[in-house]
Parts: sequence; C-alpha cells; structure tokens
Amino acid sequence: MLTKSSNITRGIVYVFIRYCSNKQRSQHAQDLEKTRNRKKPPGGSRHLNDKSLTYLFNAWDNVQWDEEQEKAAKQKVELNSQITFTEDSLKDLDLNADKHWDTFYDIHQNRFFKDRHWLFTEFPELAPDNTSAPLRVYPSDNESVMTEKPELTNPCLTHMEQDINVKRYIFEIGCGVGNTIFPILQYSRDPNLFIYGCDFSSKAIEIMKENELYDTNRCSVFVLDATKEEWDVPFDKNSLDIIVLIFVLSAIDPTKMKTVITNIYKYLKPSGLVVFRDYGRYDLAQLRFKKGRCISDNFYARGDRTKVYFFTQEEVSHLFKETGFLEEQNLVDRRLQVNRGKMLTMYRVWIQGKYRKPS
Ligand SMILES: C[S@@+](CC[C@H](N)C(=O)[O-])C[C@H]1O[C@@H](n2cnc3c(N)ncnc32)[C@H](O)[C@@H]1O
Repeated sequence: MLTKSSNITRGIVYVFIRYCSNKQRSQHAQDLEKTRNRKKPPGGSRHLNDKSLTYLFNAWDNVQWDEEQEKAAKQKVELNSQITFTEDSLKDLDLNADKHWDTFYDIHQNRFFKDRHWLFTEFPELAPDNTSAPLRVYPSDNESVMTEKPELTNPCLTHMEQDINVKRYIFEIGCGVGNTIFPILQYSRDPNLFIYGCDFSSKAIEIMKENELYDTNRCSVFVLDATKEEWDVPFDKNSLDIIVLIFVLSAIDPTKMKTVITNIYKYLKPSGLVVFRDYGRYDLAQLRFKKGRCISDNFYARGDRTKVYFFTQEEVSHLFKETGFLEEQNLVDRRLQVNRGKMLTMYRVWIQGKYRKPS
C-alpha cells in the first residue's frame, strides 16, 4: 500500500521529470516512452543514458557500472568477507544443506520464486514451438539490436531437435517447486518433449508433485543430491538434449561444482546443451550481506542457512570449458531495478551462459 509520503515523493519526482523533459526533452527520453508498455523486459531495450531519468521507469537494462561503483562494491565485499562461523556451524551448513532447503520450502511452499517470464526470451531452446516470446536483445558496441521473432525453423535447434518424431529430453537440476518446468510444460505443446527434474529437498519435490500442473505423462521429478559422484537417475548417460541450471549452481559449495558439471557432461547427448543463469559478482544480494555470513570467498549463508555463491563470467566459463564444453554464450546481465515510491535503486547482476557438449 502506498503511504501519503511516498505519494508526495512520487509527485515531486513526476513534477521534476516533467520539468526536465519540458525544458529539454531529448530524443532519448522520447524513445524511452515507447518502452513504457513493453509486455516483458526483452533484456536490453531500455538504456539509462541520462541519470536524471532514473526514476522514470521500474527497470533499466544493461546498465554500465563506472569505476567508482565497482570500487565501492569491492569494498563492501571485502567488509563482509570475514569468516566468523565456527567449525561446527560450517559442518552443519554442509551436512544439513538439504534440510535447510526443506525448511525454506516448508515456510514458503510454492510462493517464493516467481515464474519466469524471461525464460523463453533468454532460452528459446526450451520451448522452440512457442513463438510468442520476444527474443533477447544483445548489446553490440553499446547499441542494442532487437533480434527477429523466432521462425518455426529455429536456428538455435540441432537437426535432431527439429525432427518432430524424435523424443526430446530436458533435465532441470535444482528444480525447486517447478517455476521453470511448469512454464515449459505450459508453453511447449511438443508431444515428444519429456522433462525430468531433481532437487535434493524432498519437501520441494513433494510440493511440486501436488501441483495440478504436474503431469506424469510429460514430466517426472525426483530427489537427487547433484553433488554426488554417481547419480541415481531414471535415464541413461548420453541421453539428454538440454540440462537446465537456473539459480542452482550458486547454492552448491564451489568445491563441489566441478563434480556436478562432470556428471552433466556424462548425461548430455553429444551436441546437448546446458542453459545457465545465476547470481553474478557484486549483485545487490551479495552487497547486502552483513559481516559474519561468509563461508568462503564470495560464498555466503543466508539467515535461513541456505547458501549462495556469486560468480564472475570467467569462473563460469572456466568451469564448463575445463570439462570439455564449447561456450556458445557467456554474458553478464546488469539490470537497475527502481523502487520509485521509496526512491531506491537496486543493481542486479546475473550471469547467463550456454554450453554445448561437442558432437
Ligand atoms: C535458489 S533455488 C532455485 C530453484 C529453482 N531452480 C528456481 O529457479 O526456482 C536453489 C534450488 O537448488 C536446490 N539445490 C541446492 N543444492 C542442491 C543439490 N546439491 N542437489 C540438488 N538440488 C540442490 C535447492 O533445494 C533449491 O530448490
């Protein structure tokens, strides 16, 4: 609910913006108006070239950080990186990691993670028959180009994927309560698609199975700790078309990430694809950690004892390439989110990648 003071603040901002715009309304500001009613944020269509316009919208794409901002973020991280956990606490964080996520899902059920509207914009490979999503806008030389709407014969697909008689298998690791799997099932009508999902939280899997959208003819989810050397899974090695890693690798201890990537490599088909999106270094969530929550460099425990790592592009690239993957995409998505009522700015940083197993 908006308070009286936030209404006044909004009013002042509005008047100020009107004043600026009337005085010297730039072509830039006029162009921005055209993005006001955009259906989804097609990553990169709205750029903040004039800081006085910050509070005009709720979000800005591909925001550039200057040296000052980078330096301030580094200092914040240095401050919150001191490790004060006892040996026992660190052991508990590691040994009971799945239990802490169970508690999380006990509390939040399926209300916490929002369904992803950006999913098919960023990863059209997940539902190639869904042509309603706008494609991502890639920055090139600081300019953005809107890519064409996908055609039915999607160039992102391998020949196998385009053959309508061939079964396609997607596997999501750390699927939680289905915020990625359910949208794929809803948007893709491909009768040959089957989706597997795993999570090490048995509570998450239980909640997901109770969802009315859970259709055993089209998907199957199970409990698995993806950091195990040997996976106990209902499919063969070299059998999966796509493996999805969305905000899950960050929940895993960096010392165990290599084991996960190695198993992913084993279970993907030759030419199979990994789609990855996760927290980036100096994301708002990292800068917000107070002293005493750090487990190791850039790896923290939240108040509820779930864990989170913040990646650089180079780290992600190294992890996959050293396992034998070919890099098809590795980008940093920097977004400025604005709370116009409270006049707050929040700088988000996400890393996104696509990695292919050689054929
Ligand atoms: C931040 S949540 C993201 C959930 C889901 N991918 C989404 O985007 O909504 C991280 C998920 O990874 C799961 N997870 C963490 N470590 C795991 C592991 N070692 N094996 C399997 N799942 C794990 C957690 O239980 C949690 O559901």
